[in-house]
Amino acid sequence: MTSAPLAHLAEQTAALLTTIAALSSPEELRDAEATLTGRRSILSALQRSLGSLEPDERKAAGAQLQAARREVEDALAERRRVLEVESRARALERDRLDLGDVVLDQVNWGLAVGHPGLVALTQRALEDVFVAMGFTVADGPEVESDWYNFEALNIPPAHPARGLWDTFYVDLGEPETVVLRTHTSPTQVHLMEEAVAEGTLPIHSVMPGRCYRRDTPDARHLYAFHQIEGLVIDRGITFADLAGVIETFTRAYFGPDITSRLRPGYFPFTEPSAEFEVTCTICRGEGCRTCSFTGWIELGGCGMVDPAVLDAVGIDKATWSGFAFGFGIDRCAQMRHQLSDMRALIENDARFLEQFS
Ligand code: PHE
Repeated sequence: MTSAPLAHLAEQTAALLTTIAALSSPEELRDAEATLTGRRSILSALQRSLGSLEPDERKAAGAQLQAARREVEDALAERRRVLEVESRARALERDRLDLGDVVLDQVNWGLAVGHPGLVALTQRALEDVFVAMGFTVADGPEVESDWYNFEALNIPPAHPARGLWDTFYVDLGEPETVVLRTHTSPTQVHLMEEAVAEGTLPIHSVMPGRCYRRDTPDARHLYAFHQIEGLVIDRGITFADLAGVIETFTRAYFGPDITSRLRPGYFPFTEPSAEFEVTCTICRGEGCRTCSFTGWIELGGCGMVDPAVLDAVGIDKATWSGFAFGFGIDRCAQMRHQLSDMRALIENDARFLEQFS
């Protein structure tokens, strides 16, 4: 039974709950709190009015009022929770970064698009020249055993010729001493072994790739560099074929006013051997500091495949003969683009790289 002071408690509570449900922000809720549940609230006024009741009635009415207050306070707490969540969501929405805007912005700033580096471009250009001359392109491993990098190329263990390609050996226990290849010539051995095993001689191939030496970088040397190897094994191949291929390549790649010359040289895996030089592109043969005033720049080595190499891979010397050459791709890039310092190729300075897109 409802006592007189609380005659309208249900409607009053309902009105408070309606007001609470209509609060629209944590700030509004904070401002309304005093009038909803505080000292100035209807609930507190009702509480005070209970003082006039008989003790028994007061106790029952007090419990009823207490329940109403709890209902209002719970509703207020729940409304506060909801409003705070909504308010945080609105703040996040305000701060949201539109990914579309960011990407568009980057495009407008001229986001750089990458392209192959100068060495890769040079390698492709060299491959194009040789493919046009009838060569195929092959590649081989950069980590080689002693056999491929040296022994099969007629460079026995402890022979002084090893000094030309001195390097760090990694001893994996006999017989596997391995090296980072010091030249691309070991790929010749792989190709010859495969051709013998599969009966696919003759060979007309070029083999570009990375090589490693224990050199300290300077204007003309890098510890990791690139070579392109060439190998022809066929019937009746002579030194004239080698000289013709070198000269044809030189004019095709560097232009008609650059020419090649072969000077006697020494490589354990070719006999006879030659150094392959081209007109200095910086002075056009006049003589300058870069070519030590000779007018010529050494690009690589070449020669007729040594019979000892043919024996090592099991090619019949009575039927087949051949020539090989190998030269630096980085050195070609340097000559073709007149780079005074080769280290620019590995420094990744965008101002340098962008010139060759
Ligand atoms: N491999 C030799 C070097 O790196 C170059 C070469 C290749 C010489 C093929 C002769 C034949 O110096």
